[in-house]
Amino acid sequence: MRRPLIAGNWKMHTSILEAYLLVAEIGKCAAGLKDRDVILAPPNIALNAVSRVLHDSDVLLASQNVCWEEEGAFTGEISPTMVKSAGAVASIIGHSERRQIFHEDDEMINKRVLGALKFGLIPLFCIGETLEEREGEKTFEVLEAQIRKGLAGVSVEDMATTVVAYEPIWAIGTGKTATKEQAQEVHAFIRKLLAEMFGKAIADSVRILYGGSVKPDNVDELMAQPDIDGALVGGAALNAESFCRIINFK
Ligand code: 13P
Repeated sequence: MRRPLIAGNWKMHTSILEAYLLVAEIGKCAAGLKDRDVILAPPNIALNAVSRVLHDSDVLLASQNVCWEEEGAFTGEISPTMVKSAGAVASIIGHSERRQIFHEDDEMINKRVLGALKFGLIPLFCIGETLEEREGEKTFEVLEAQIRKGLAGVSVEDMATTVVAYEPIWAIGTGKTATKEQAQEVHAFIRKLLAEMFGKAIADSVRILYGGSVKPDNVDELMAQPDIDGALVGGAALNAESFCRIINFK
């Protein structure tokens, strides 16, 4: 019912040439995958080059963040229309690295979500708890606040295109994946909350991705969970062989 989606977040890795070479490999192994979506989020500077390589493939592109304004005095930002002109159809928003390192708060993330939607970009809206919050049994409370604030003002219609990514911060780049049971429990909680906020039909159709040390050897069991609809992959998306295995999950 929900079409699986695997997204690769390259973070601040790859020169334009390296991006070009990596996407050429990934494009080959993604060819012919008809029952799932694949999205790549290279650094902004490589978006256009990557989009040229992918022009006749089904692989889609995302930026790693996006501003809420179309243009203006926002040094260092990139606008929704700019990323669209470079070939992106989606934007990662609210990644924990933006929240933690660059102090983006829920209000700013909400503006980015609404801005992306206004200009027709799919938000890949990220949430996740720290290890301290999990150990303090605050996971659900933290995620609920992130969702309610981050998705404030999103219409039911726009929620139908939005993707949620649950990325527990303690699992990002640590090699310590959430167990399939831990991830499923949180995904079910998120879906229930989305049903309360947007209605059951939307909640049943929204794709919820898991992110945090997704690798070739754990993707199959994660994808087998009823509420896990895809993965947001960091480190393993920088290696064509491992990303190809992940997008070909069984
Ligand atoms: P890793 O897959 O490297 O843990 O990164 C996850 C992530 O942050 C994707 O956005």
